[in-house]
Amino acid sequence: MRSLKEKIAAAVYKGIERIAPSAAVPENEIVTYLAYPPDGKMGDIALPCFRFAKALRMAPPAIAAALADGFCCEGVASVETAGGYLNFRIDRGALLERLYGQISSQDKPYGSSDIGAGKTVVLDYSSPNVAKPFHIGHLGTTVIGHSLKKMHEFAGYKCIGVNHLGDWGTQFGKLIVAYRKWGSKQAVEEKGIDELVALYVRFHEEAEKEPSLNDEARAAFTALEHGDPEMTELWRWFIDISIKEYKKTYKQLDIEFDYYTGESFYTDKMPAVVEELKEKNLLSIDDGASIVDLEAYGMPPCLILKRDGSTLYPTRDIAAAIYRKKTFDFDKCIYVTSAGQSLHFAQWFKVLELMGRDWYNRLVHVPYGTVSLNGEKLATRTGNVVLLKDLFAEAIEKAAAIMAEKNPELAGREDVAESVGIGAVVFYYLSANRMRDINFVLEDALNFDGNTGPYAQYTYARTCQILKKAGEFKPGPYDLNDDEFELCKTIALFPETFDQALAEYEPSIITRYVLDLCAAFNRFYHNCPVLTAENESVKAQRLALTECTNKVLSSALELICVRHPEKI
Ligand code: ARG
Repeated sequence: MRSLKEKIAAAVYKGIERIAPSAAVPENEIVTYLAYPPDGKMGDIALPCFRFAKALRMAPPAIAAALADGFCCEGVASVETAGGYLNFRIDRGALLERLYGQISSQDKPYGSSDIGAGKTVVLDYSSPNVAKPFHIGHLGTTVIGHSLKKMHEFAGYKCIGVNHLGDWGTQFGKLIVAYRKWGSKQAVEEKGIDELVALYVRFHEEAEKEPSLNDEARAAFTALEHGDPEMTELWRWFIDISIKEYKKTYKQLDIEFDYYTGESFYTDKMPAVVEELKEKNLLSIDDGASIVDLEAYGMPPCLILKRDGSTLYPTRDIAAAIYRKKTFDFDKCIYVTSAGQSLHFAQWFKVLELMGRDWYNRLVHVPYGTVSLNGEKLATRTGNVVLLKDLFAEAIEKAAAIMAEKNPELAGREDVAESVGIGAVVFYYLSANRMRDINFVLEDALNFDGNTGPYAQYTYARTCQILKKAGEFKPGPYDLNDDEFELCKTIALFPETFDQALAEYEPSIITRYVLDLCAAFNRFYHNCPVLTAENESVKAQRLALTECTNKVLSSALELICVRHPEKI
């Protein structure tokens, strides 16, 4: 059992068995009824007994009284009834003793679990389109995706990160033609994606005047599809140039992918899909194109083949899912994209269901909202794009300027500025519920006094410095005042907070928890001197709380991909 709530729930279940042996109350539901009252006066944890009134055929106050009678649970100091409520008081010292025991022993990070043991999760995220700008619209899939990967690892799953690059399609015919006409090897090597984008833009400008260029591009793509060696070499080079650049951004975020298997990887795996769809009578022809009709499910048709027989985005996704299932035997395959693609995923998930792949319900689409910058919507088409690398560079520069002022003596300031600048962007992004549309304001993200990444990093660094100065200590016996207890309770919330974030695919739950923990720690630190405490026993107890905060903050920041230097 990982939390006190679970222990209390188990004791309540025993109590119910005692009062009404035949009542059908599911044990795992009791824990969801337990609440933390906002005002600790009534108790630290409360159980509304009306929840059991129907099953027990008793009035809530009578249930509360019967459960309180002889109630016994390790970690609970006392229990009182208040009408239909049962209020538990936590044994403060026992709570810290238990937490400190778990957190300071190194065997397994506190809050982690093993619900994923023996199971594999494939995470498909970031997945930019090759030779197109990697802009701040990609921040969501990249950081939410990576955070979900970390979270699944923390829960014991084996995780496989796949970058499903958009590396196939007619745009490569255009790029090849543009490069051959106006490009130079040197420029591409020097300027990377920026140069590829410029070539692509130029292609469209020239094609306005000279429409035959489009035919050339089509021919080039057809040649590429047929494996023309020269075209293939160019195309691979465009991909390599792009990946090299993405990797710079991924390095800043400490992200590594297990596979860069883009859409093209599934080229030879698609004919079998089309064959199977035909065999199962799922394909119909609509204006020359092959589709799967989904009208019965309230969705537009899923496009499988264009009129000219070429495959489409959903076709490749279907082939990829089948390949991944076969190769990794995943328990779940998670896709992180903007909510704009929700229909696409719903459609092809349905197609797999119709194909009789009973694992279709193991596919999870995790959508997220839009992002604007300083109130301005970003759109690739109008050219109003902000590249992720530029946003990061600006954040790092601004962080460095603030730090030069705050802590001019700091050693290794450049590295720390990178951690703070990027940490600020990621933290800010992951602060809001993922479906909310975000307006990015860099100044706000970098506000060292706000509810921001730098504030959390500062708090973490503070705990590191206190522990470093303190040296060894041995806490106990424990006796907690209110501030100490508040902090202790917040620390104790980490496992269930993590469980909830994982269940909802919602990193922001962890981000907000980090802020709560920082607030509780800073209140404690303000009111309770640690290193200059009145005696050794109080000092050791406060150091134990500081160490718990330190370890939990470290795990939590790790889960949301925010670096946390020991000194800022
Ligand atoms: N390349 C796509 C885009 O930029 C995202 C791919 C998401 N993954 C997938 N399996 N469809 O919109």
